[in-house]
Amino acid sequence: MTINPVFTDAVPVAPIDPERQFLDDVLAGLSAPQKFLSAKYFYDAAGSDLFEAITRQPEYYPTRTELGILDAQGAAIAAALPARASLVEFGSGSTAKVRRLMVHRPDLAAYVPVDVSESFLRSEAEALAVDFPDLAIMPVAADFTRAFTLPASLPGGPVAGFFPGSTIGNFEPPQAASLLRHFGRVLGDGAVLIVGVDLVKDKAVLDAAYDDAAGVTAAFNRNLLVRIQRELGADIDIEAFAHRAFFNPEASRIEMHLVSQATQAIHLAGHRIDFAEGETIHTENSYKYTIEGFRQLAKAAGWVAGEVWTDPDALFAIHALRRD
Ligand code: TRP
Repeated sequence: MTINPVFTDAVPVAPIDPERQFLDDVLAGLSAPQKFLSAKYFYDAAGSDLFEAITRQPEYYPTRTELGILDAQGAAIAAALPARASLVEFGSGSTAKVRRLMVHRPDLAAYVPVDVSESFLRSEAEALAVDFPDLAIMPVAADFTRAFTLPASLPGGPVAGFFPGSTIGNFEPPQAASLLRHFGRVLGDGAVLIVGVDLVKDKAVLDAAYDDAAGVTAAFNRNLLVRIQRELGADIDIEAFAHRAFFNPEASRIEMHLVSQATQAIHLAGHRIDFAEGETIHTENSYKYTIEGFRQLAKAAGWVAGEVWTDPDALFAIHALRRD
């Protein structure tokens, strides 16, 4: 049996109080010249529900387009996986996408969903086991951006990775390259990685996808302020911050901001944070890549770029990468 060692630059840190960490991160972000908040705080229970609702908005094309590619071309994509591979999904979330590969590959040796949410992992694994009773399911509760080890009981043989949802686009390009390199180390030599990446396209289509008419993405963005108010006891007039999302073509990214609608101050843990009218808090980026641009990024991160599958409107791409 081969267990791939994890080589990583990440230094393990002593566990710290999550509420303290949240407060420190918020104070640091709101003290910067361009105020910012870390996107990792989007996903409390309410934020996760709001994100699910975003994926059902008519303007938000990525989720249904990626599912459509998997439906139409799942057999070809699954054929890129080595025989009897163990398939590791990074940040598994819902299993809707990976199921569309599994149906074509009854020879999979194991499925290893990696996610921070232990309860979510458990419920998804239980549901999956009902439909794929012969599949070995080995969940790992971990932050996939950090060092983690694959289960010791993983069957020997090839390892493949799956990273859908264009989550790679939520990292700055140098961090995205580091993450792809990290995945290479986790999966080991000879690995295949299947990764979903949103494509550069018409600005109007992109802008609408991150500013849906029903206001769900706006509520998702403002949920950061709701959490700061509720969990850290801050004094914030949430309605005094507007959602703004737009495609920045120079940086090839969607930027999400919260825009102060007035000159105002918020009070948090004895600190006063001032806002000018129109000043923004930068909350998220979603980088968009051309097919060639993503292949270059992957090559720079030590992968050999292979097949690419897209939808008929060329909205979204699924890449196969290999590591020699
Ligand atoms: N990676 C997806 C995207 O960028 C999902 C996502 C992450 C998202 N953060 C978001 C979607 C914020 C909407 C708003 O589209």
